[in-house]
Amino acid sequence: MNLQPEPAADDHHRHTARSLPSEKQLQRGTRACSSKGQRRGVFASLQVLDTKDLQVFKVTVNGQDAKFVFGEKHTFKGTPLEITLPFELRRGQEAIVEISFESSPKSSALQWFSPEQTSGKKHPFLFSQCQATHCRAILPCQDTPAVKLTYYAEISVPKELVALMSANRDGEIPDPEDSSRKIYRFSQNVPIPCYLIALVVGALESRKIGPRTLVWAEKELVDKSAYEFAEAEAMLKTAEDLAGPYIWGQYDLLVLPPSFPYGGMENPCLTFVTPTLLAGDRSLSNVIAHEISHSWTGNLVTNKTWEHFWLNEGHTVYLERRIGGRLFGEQFRHFQALGGWRDLQNTINTLGDKNPVTNLIPNLNEVDPDVAYSSVPYEKGFALLFYLEQLLGGPDVFIGFLKAYIQQFAYKSIVTEDWKKFLYSYFKDKVDVLDKVDWNLWFHAPGMPPVKPTYDMTLANACVALSQRWIKAKESDLGSFSSADLKEMSSHQLIEFLALLLLEAPLPVSHVQRMQQVYDFNAINNSEIRFRWLRLCIKSKWEEAIPLALKMATDQGRMKFTRPLFRDLYSFDKCRDLAVKTFLEHRASMHPVTSMLVGKDLKQDQ
Ligand code: BES
Ligand code: ZN
Repeated sequence: MNLQPEPAADDHHRHTARSLPSEKQLQRGTRACSSKGQRRGVFASLQVLDTKDLQVFKVTVNGQDAKFVFGEKHTFKGTPLEITLPFELRRGQEAIVEISFESSPKSSALQWFSPEQTSGKKHPFLFSQCQATHCRAILPCQDTPAVKLTYYAEISVPKELVALMSANRDGEIPDPEDSSRKIYRFSQNVPIPCYLIALVVGALESRKIGPRTLVWAEKELVDKSAYEFAEAEAMLKTAEDLAGPYIWGQYDLLVLPPSFPYGGMENPCLTFVTPTLLAGDRSLSNVIAHEISHSWTGNLVTNKTWEHFWLNEGHTVYLERRIGGRLFGEQFRHFQALGGWRDLQNTINTLGDKNPVTNLIPNLNEVDPDVAYSSVPYEKGFALLFYLEQLLGGPDVFIGFLKAYIQQFAYKSIVTEDWKKFLYSYFKDKVDVLDKVDWNLWFHAPGMPPVKPTYDMTLANACVALSQRWIKAKESDLGSFSSADLKEMSSHQLIEFLALLLLEAPLPVSHVQRMQQVYDFNAINNSEIRFRWLRLCIKSKWEEAIPLALKMATDQGRMKFTRPLFRDLYSFDKCRDLAVKTFLEHRASMHPVTSMLVGKDLKQDQ
């Protein structure tokens, strides 16, 4: 947690974390890192590392035993581990620190599954999610994106299981200590912030879908996944053309159990994704374009603190949509951009337009980044970049800047001021234009941005027209709707149609009932459509939708879906108690972060 952040960005931390077998043993590890003398003084005698719910058994420095104590436990930051070096370290001098430790079964970074909780039902499963500040709940570290490190790891697992990490695979050997096990080796030779350390263990299979891409999943989902994500190589090539060479070697995809709390996570060499992307028609592949884009913005150029998270996500959404534009046309890019603006409106309606967490650069002092998480850094960040693109001469001009920005700050961690300075130096002939931007409002004011970019409306018009028909319809007009209304609409347009209705006051229940009669949305399994449809029904207080909404909220755990569904059910007085009861029944088997946040949403904090 770096109570006294000591971002020794030039330190080289070498890890030899060795996680061992079975639940108990897998939680144990030894971590070695070389630590240089801290910068402030010439000599250092103390090394502070972040931990959360870790037990530490032994610490040595260059082989010598070192004293260690835990500091005070913070509500969400965990507990600082203070290591007294057995000798003074001069500035620049290196030492090897080895730590024996064990993580807790309730680690906020890990979800453990019994065999019955998996698709295959035969083997246990484990996955990690470190972003933003959960790496400390796996191993002692400087848990700040200001510091980058390379790693080497060996993971011992039962022979029937596969271990994967956010690294290139470095072969496997029999475990010399136990013939029923094998050891997987991994190297990440590009310096990364520790929030990108990731591990998965399970009965995983793979299919090759591109020259540098395998899709990994449990057997039951692996073929469907290979079909769904077949565009990955085309997206990688497009991204390279837009942003520069892909330097990470492999780009694999891993499909997680349904409780995975995010749409995707850009773990280097191995993107993690939710199975809710498996629509069957590749229509949700923008999430893959997004995670691919993080290989440049986020993983190469990294936000120095979580207050500058928009640098990661805003630029990544910008690249994601440029990839979509190349593959599906410029009108589609504008359609997605407009959808983003509407998403932002939705979020700001929910959070309130005076809420300081809606600032592009929020103050996160004593704020848990998981609690502050929203679409604001994504969509306000994207809107700023899209606005600048239009101000500075269009997409071809702006991509030149983005490429140069990536080159300039690759392998570094930066703040917004670094970005802005570089923008001004790249567009030194357009300083007068840049000075017209109200930077203070964009960066530091809550609510919607001060300026709305312009959007091509070709693909959005049909969504606006149909949603207006429903909003304006009187009871006596309901007969005019029919399944033919949707004949020319893509699934993306259906999503937008429903999203537009969600921005308005609830429709009368007679309207949603008629909508079900003519469009049969209940039969649609595309998660983005189903999610918005069920929200619409619950907001209109249609009781028949309650079991369907509860089922979606619990059958999968992607927080983008699960949290609003539970929140809407909780606000519907007819089913508040049932929503709370259902949550409490499922809580123990939910992902720890999802359980914490839904608990807060439903006022069931422990
Ligand atoms: N890095 C994020 C996920 C994340 C952010 C996890 C902060 C934990 C803390 C990932 O790249 C992401 O943005 N996922 C989005 C994808 C979408 C914007 C296309 C998601 O999960 O919905
Ligand atoms: Zn992202």
